Amino acid sequence: MSGDLWESRAEKLRWQLAKSLAADGAVTSEAWKAAFAAVPRHVFVPRFYRQTPGEQPVVDESTPDAWLEGVYTNQLLVVSPDVKSSSTVPSLMAAMLEALDPQDDHRVLEIGTGTGYNAALLSHRVGDSNVVSVDIAADLINDAQARLASIGYRPTLGIGDGAEGWAGGALYDGIIATCAPNRIPDAWLDQTRPGGRIVTPIATGVAVVDIEPGRKGEGRFLQVAAFFMPLRPTPRPADLGTQIADIASAIASTRPTDLDEKIWFDDDFRFVLAAALPGIRFLSKLETGVTIFTHLDGSWARLDNGTVAQAGDQQIWNAVEAAHKRWDDLGRPTRDMFSISVKPESQHIRLEGHGVEWALPRVP
Ligand SMILES: C[S@@+](CC[C@H](N)C(=O)[O-])C[C@H]1O[C@@H](n2cnc3c(N)ncnc32)[C@H](O)[C@@H]1O
Repeated sequence: MSGDLWESRAEKLRWQLAKSLAADGAVTSEAWKAAFAAVPRHVFVPRFYRQTPGEQPVVDESTPDAWLEGVYTNQLLVVSPDVKSSSTVPSLMAAMLEALDPQDDHRVLEIGTGTGYNAALLSHRVGDSNVVSVDIAADLINDAQARLASIGYRPTLGIGDGAEGWAGGALYDGIIATCAPNRIPDAWLDQTRPGGRIVTPIATGVAVVDIEPGRKGEGRFLQVAAFFMPLRPTPRPADLGTQIADIASAIASTRPTDLDEKIWFDDDFRFVLAAALPGIRFLSKLETGVTIFTHLDGSWARLDNGTVAQAGDQQIWNAVEAAHKRWDDLGRPTRDMFSISVKPESQHIRLEGHGVEWALPRVP
């Protein structure tokens, strides 16, 4: 395919994507529809890695049809083989950008530059001189800078830990994060003007928080699920393989459980679980046939044919069962029914009127 053909094919697919985002309700404003129709995602995703069992074939311009079709499909794209970064699913990006709702001359800080695509959409919307975007990975920033410049955008890009925000560009009217903190970092509260807004993934949801003076704010969650990578560095067990093998073979007493481990895959419950038990995660080892839940404090639970074994500081499966019962008793509320309250000393997720409140920890 010649360069011109690529461009016209890409433009057509881009329009189709923008139209479908609007038809599905992810894009609700003309301004963001225009941005998605104008900004070429393929410039920011020169290759992606298809996630198939056992292998990750690369898709790039050597197969132009598959590449462009993939890039302009509403899907998450893994852009590095080690899954260090990804291009977020466009409908989720759109929902977050709509929620941020920046006005024409607003200053916006993005945390998690990644490919640079979101920074380009923001540059289209508010002007590149009003956009600052930060990533912890210098190589990603260098690539993003070149791609942005190739289509005429020169936002300020910073290499650093996004938990610190970017003081040089403050105050911002809005901050949008595409990697997930445990709770809103103090620096973001300090760098957002009172009356401004922070949109960030928290506990597998998207929090939309209106900022008040004095490190305070009130907000809500969007209905959409948001499984973003955590804001690095996040403490992780050093050797997952050994850990799984050790837990799979550990001798521990078992008890029966009625709760199916597949509850982990219920999107709405995952939010409640992430809020009630931050730091929990799910590991499945095909060879051992058991399912393992671990916590960052080292506790674990092993599920096997309707029985559970547990060890560590917490009985995490007991906590999962308790969270599930609570969620069930409450009528299985969805993310958008929860609010978030931010105060200088504490941050909480709440289900108003039901006495449900979880504190968000500073560290996992
Ligand atoms: C889902 S990707 C971002 C997608 C991006 N917004 C785009 O449009 O392509 C998440 C990014 O967060 C970055 N990240 C992770 N931890 C970070 C941190 N502490 N500070 C800044 N960036 C971080 C990762 O390097 C990764 O590029």
